[in-house]
Amino acid sequence: MNLLITGSLGHIGSYVVENIYKIKKIKKTFLVDNNESNRFYSLFNLKEKKNLKFYLKDVSKKNSLDEFKNINYVIHCASITDAESSFERKDEMFKNNIKCLKNIIKFCKKNKSKLIHISSTSVYGKQAEIVDETCENKFLKPQSPYAEIKLIEERILKKESKNLKYITFRFGTIAGISKGIRFHTAVNKFCFNAALNRKINIYKTALNQYRPYLSLEDAFRTFKFSIENDFFKNDIYNVLSGNYTVYQILQKIKRFKKNIKIKFVSSKIMNQLSYHVSNKKIKQAGLKFKSKLDRDIKDTLKLLNNKTFKKYLIEIYDL
Ligand SMILES: NC(=O)c1ccc[n+]([C@@H]2O[C@H](COP(=O)([O-])OP(=O)(O)OC[C@H]3O[C@@H](n4cnc5c(N)ncnc54)[C@H](O)[C@@H]3O)[C@@H](O)[C@H]2O)c1
Repeated sequence: MNLLITGSLGHIGSYVVENIYKIKKIKKTFLVDNNESNRFYSLFNLKEKKNLKFYLKDVSKKNSLDEFKNINYVIHCASITDAESSFERKDEMFKNNIKCLKNIIKFCKKNKSKLIHISSTSVYGKQAEIVDETCENKFLKPQSPYAEIKLIEERILKKESKNLKYITFRFGTIAGISKGIRFHTAVNKFCFNAALNRKINIYKTALNQYRPYLSLEDAFRTFKFSIENDFFKNDIYNVLSGNYTVYQILQKIKRFKKNIKIKFVSSKIMNQLSYHVSNKKIKQAGLKFKSKLDRDIKDTLKLLNNKTFKKYLIEIYDL
């Protein structure tokens, strides 16, 4: 069986690329990215025997995928990400991400490929203790253009249900290291600043608010589960390793880095809501989450503690 991974240089995509050999039924993997995020280094030291081939392509362009044939599965990661900067980049993000998805849908329909689409738990904003996939549309309150676009993507896919086999996973915020790791998201950003002895900026309202997090290892486990079990239900599933408050995340960081500095800041993305996201639906389907965020935090701090790297970063940041 053949797999196409879009956005393969990114944080999630590059982790999947490194681990894809663990899904035995995948014999060949085609990697696509437009290098929008300038992460060519994700391709360094890839082992040839893994049967991977990289193509520099912009998925938002019509016909960009025409040369790929006999693709059984697509993991679609190509997206402009970073929720916080999405306020300034709304139009660009909308155009890119929606066009990418529409082209992927067209490709999957034509080639009868099964599609894994990644949404985000940031579509939730309901004032409730626990939110799950049955949450009524009127209670979905995305707090950023990034999350609004995710909801639009989910709705586009739903309309294609008759013509396409797909699954949407609403991922919690990713933690953990990969070749294409990025540091926009909560856990990684906190670790980055902690490692460099910089102040960790915390949104004023966020300290005791629960949010869902997903370890990269569990994210991969989810893709593996979906492909191995042919789990393409044309439906939406929350995917997270656990719900934590920022305070709890900081405590985890402190286990490995005693002294950290915190600064409370404001952000457009802030809100008053604290909620747990339920992952019961996917667990009932048979997926087992095994990862611990503590290990991701330990690995990330260790990665950043590399002496040469740290020296270089300290020079860049003029510390
Ligand atoms: N990282 C998280 O915390 C998180 C959480 C929930 C959902 N997601 C979703 O998972 C998916 C992957 O996220 P990620 O963290 O790996 O993001 P990322 O920003 O690290 O990677 C995205 C990749 O897509 C590429 N890309 C963007 N536009 C493209 C285009 N037009 N053509 C080809 N490639 C293009 C970029 O160059 C980049 O390498 C995204 O849809 C993201 O919204 C991520």
